[in-house]
Amino acid sequence: MTPAPRRLYLTEPSQFQIEYAINQWMDPGVQVDRSVAIAEWEALRDTYVQLGAQVETFDPLPGWPDSVFLGDSIFLYGEQAIASRFRYPERAGEVEPMVARFEERGFRVHHLPEGLHYEGNGETMPWNGMLLAGYGPRTDRAAHDFLAETLGVPVLSIHVQAPHFHVDTTICPLDAGTLAYVPSGMDAESRQRVHALNADLIEIDDEEAVLLACNSMAFGRSVLLSTQGAPRFEKALERAGFDVLALDMSEFAKSGGGAKCLTLEAYSAS
Ligand code: ARG
Repeated sequence: MTPAPRRLYLTEPSQFQIEYAINQWMDPGVQVDRSVAIAEWEALRDTYVQLGAQVETFDPLPGWPDSVFLGDSIFLYGEQAIASRFRYPERAGEVEPMVARFEERGFRVHHLPEGLHYEGNGETMPWNGMLLAGYGPRTDRAAHDFLAETLGVPVLSIHVQAPHFHVDTTICPLDAGTLAYVPSGMDAESRQRVHALNADLIEIDDEEAVLLACNSMAFGRSVLLSTQGAPRFEKALERAGFDVLALDMSEFAKSGGGAKCLTLEAYSAS
């Protein structure tokens, strides 16, 4: 039986811009070249289609230049969804339209208790029946308890360390037995929790991590990278038997995001 295609959502970057700085990559003095950004994004979309994914594309939300990173506003798991609550008001308006889109598509959307912050797909990755979830700069750790209770899945909490602000630039599931990770992107206790998983770990060094090398997407033995500037990570992947597809997503790196955070996945609940 052929497996069901992966279900991915993207938002078209026609309004993507650097209008404020809420992370260490962003500098409103360094603007996006919109036509280059569109070409990079189209290459990402086309690569997903070639890899057999089912891709649905949304229009951007006018006035919300980071809405291209659509995964940060919601997390989809089976038929359920958790609506985000952004740390910064600069992104607050992205949540409601995404909730409406996924309610229309039949998801049951849960809302966090008052006062808790959580940044969705950017902070949450299913792996082997658990969720690897980030907290610290953007997400409150108590949001992980809500995730675990609401979705009925164990959560492994990772305390994300600056300059990283979402867990998806510090850890990346490659297959059921392999994770890539950025040792400096999490605190010592989180690193211990990751080591205790007994997975094969591929380390990404700081120099390649700031290019968002860890913000990758694995499809079977193929790994789509967000940068063409991570030769050491590429070698390590190849040694572990993966094929590397390195894309140039450098316009999005100006905002602190890469391929993985431009992509919202509807994960099947396991
Ligand atoms: N400029 C965006 C922000 O700071 C980048 C989001 C990156 N998303 C991610 N999942 N890593 O919020």
